[in-house]
Amino acid sequence: MVDFEEVVLQRHSTRLFLRDKPVPNELVTEALALATRAPSNSNIQPWQVVIASGPARDRLVEALLAEADAGAPRVPVLPPEFAHFRRDLGSLVYGAMGVPRHDAEARRLAVRRNWEFFRAPMAGIVCMHRDLDFVDSLGVGMFLQTFLLGLTARGLGSCVQVSIAGYPDTVREQLGIGPDMRVLCGIAIGYPDPDFPANAVHVPRNALDQNVVFLQS
Ligand SMILES: Cc1cc2nc3c(=O)[nH]c(=O)nc-3n(C[C@H](O)[C@H](O)[C@H](O)COP(=O)(O)O)c2cc1C
Repeated sequence: MVDFEEVVLQRHSTRLFLRDKPVPNELVTEALALATRAPSNSNIQPWQVVIASGPARDRLVEALLAEADAGAPRVPVLPPEFAHFRRDLGSLVYGAMGVPRHDAEARRLAVRRNWEFFRAPMAGIVCMHRDLDFVDSLGVGMFLQTFLLGLTARGLGSCVQVSIAGYPDTVREQLGIGPDMRVLCGIAIGYPDPDFPANAVHVPRNALDQNVVFLQS
């Protein structure tokens, strides 16, 4: 039994995987089964997940890369007051990758790896029924975090990716996902490349009092 706190602290996003080290299906199934213990509104269990590996994953990557080369993804734009988080994250992660701040081409190529699932041999797609409300995406999020922790406890790396949801029609078409499903995000799953410096980055968090208020009187 791995210590819970250790797993929470160990989990972080992996942005380059060992392409040729296969992910055992049973480890992912165990982590998924754990994740289904997540709470959800009226126990509706709103998460719908497609896991693609082998040729299914490769076809999806090929289609996504073609889309990425043809035009920008449709991802939600951050409101200006939150934009500095993305800038800070970019400096940390791309800095660790050795991508110079003003080298637009190097940055484009690094970002493009999103649509290769950072070379992970396993690609997950997380969906939710279109008729459900945003409150139900909380249940999906809880499922997702437990899934990530279950993967971490089994020695697997992961990265949640809104970038994949930037081309929802391609994802739907390649994986046979119906129009009743909203594509929320992708998730790259695999063994982290130990020689990729950005994989060692642990992104800092706000001080607790920036996000939490205790009122006692
Ligand atoms: C909903 C969601 C979408 C994300 N989308 C992306 C993405 O498209 N590309 C990426 O490299 N990381 C993505 N991430 C990873 C975040 O950048 C990362 O979780 C955050 O910076 C904290 O770092 P950590 O996961 O290493 O602790 C996403 C994470 C979440 C939860």
